[in-house]
Amino acid sequence: MSEYNTTNDDEEKGLLADHNIDGSNECERGSLLGQTKLTLYSVGISCIAAVGGLLFGYDTGVVSGALPLLEEEFSLSEIEEEAFVSAAIAACVVGALIGGPLSDRIGRRPTILIAAVLFAIGAAVLTVSNAYWMLLIGRIMLGFGVGKASMISPVYIAEASPQRFRGALVTINNFAITGGQFVAYIVAALFSKVNEGWRYSLGLSGVPAVILFVGMLMAPESPRWLIGRGRTDEARRILLKVYGGCKEEAEREINDINDALSKHVDVKFREVFTRRMRRPLAIGILIQAFQQFCGINTAMYYSATIIKMAGFGDNSTAIWFSTLVAFGNALSTIICLFLIDRVGRRKLLFLSLSGITFGLAALGLAFYLNEHSMISDKASGITAVCALVFYTLFFALGMGPVPWALTSEIFPLKLRGIATGITTTANWLSNLIVSMTFLSLMSLITKAGVYWLYGCVCIVCLIFVIFL
Ligand code: BGC
Repeated sequence: MSEYNTTNDDEEKGLLADHNIDGSNECERGSLLGQTKLTLYSVGISCIAAVGGLLFGYDTGVVSGALPLLEEEFSLSEIEEEAFVSAAIAACVVGALIGGPLSDRIGRRPTILIAAVLFAIGAAVLTVSNAYWMLLIGRIMLGFGVGKASMISPVYIAEASPQRFRGALVTINNFAITGGQFVAYIVAALFSKVNEGWRYSLGLSGVPAVILFVGMLMAPESPRWLIGRGRTDEARRILLKVYGGCKEEAEREINDINDALSKHVDVKFREVFTRRMRRPLAIGILIQAFQQFCGINTAMYYSATIIKMAGFGDNSTAIWFSTLVAFGNALSTIICLFLIDRVGRRKLLFLSLSGITFGLAALGLAFYLNEHSMISDKASGITAVCALVFYTLFFALGMGPVPWALTSEIFPLKLRGIATGITTTANWLSNLIVSMTFLSLMSLITKAGVYWLYGCVCIVCLIFVIFL
């Protein structure tokens, strides 16, 4: 593996510059930034932007629980159900793609505000829906919001964070995603027996949407984006708060950003496809695609189904077990939060992928042995649930947060929005492919075959990480 130089000139070096993939950086080797203290201000604005992550998690997580209720109420056909799920993911693809250039042009903060409005409208439409087409419109609006938020929240947090804590603060966003998914599972389970409970579970996301909107009205613009627009005084005021009033650190950061910007003042949109960008873009696209082809969302969207298929319990037992999976996912993200800036991205990816591969192998084995009547339904169910929990714990340790952290920091500032938009689009497109092929793949190559296939993808990704 090549070692990346640790220079603060991340806009010029681009790839993994001020946080190389091993996590060490110049700041930690005794410079001023080595003593940087984490301020409440940084944590506060990261938490506000992370409400975008919470909505991402909630809105993607709530579907599996709401779907059976919608199917009953609107007598949905299988195709209508699939369209309901896929339309939202397709809208995420579009939202992420548009969000990138939009955030470069109008700023990170207004882009998050637009996402918040889309979330609120989507939630309102879903709550009052009395026809299938209204449900579709509501989900598509939400999808646009999720797509935008998924690319812009990590970028905003990374750009407004002190270098030393960037990974950890971006991981707050991932904790919010996983927390949102966990809350969504609980809410869906709680409302599953309530008359028209889906209206509440789908509509509830309107609350964080309003919190995100109001919070972002009070939050500052990204200082990096401001400097890129020549608004250095505004950026200085914000950076002073970010660095707890330390003028030297704020000035040093301004100089670093200015230095880097001066090297490519006239960067054009099309430069995103030039040779210099090829490597970071390829890494960003691949790591985001790998994240999805590890099969994570088959676990997140279908965990209750998987648990049932493994012969474990009835509907409600399966739903409650699936909340356990989501809980483990959120919990493990917290561990990553503490490790990411210490251990480094590459080691975490390595550890995470090894665990995921093992979990997938075990999950496949549980199904294989059951399909060949070599173990009882119960034994297979217990093995499958343990493997699923193990798998998600390891996913959240690295493959969940690291791709988002990496893609929010490896691109030059001027192209960061558009480039992150592209890598996020790769994430959603891969998500769409995996979700749409999961069930048919199962009938084609058996349940065991599907998980072993995802396991093979993880091994390829492990090799990719070794050579990264
Ligand atoms: C992924 C999502 C996934 C979630 C699981 C995120 O990092 O991007 O697709 O649903 O992790 O917690």
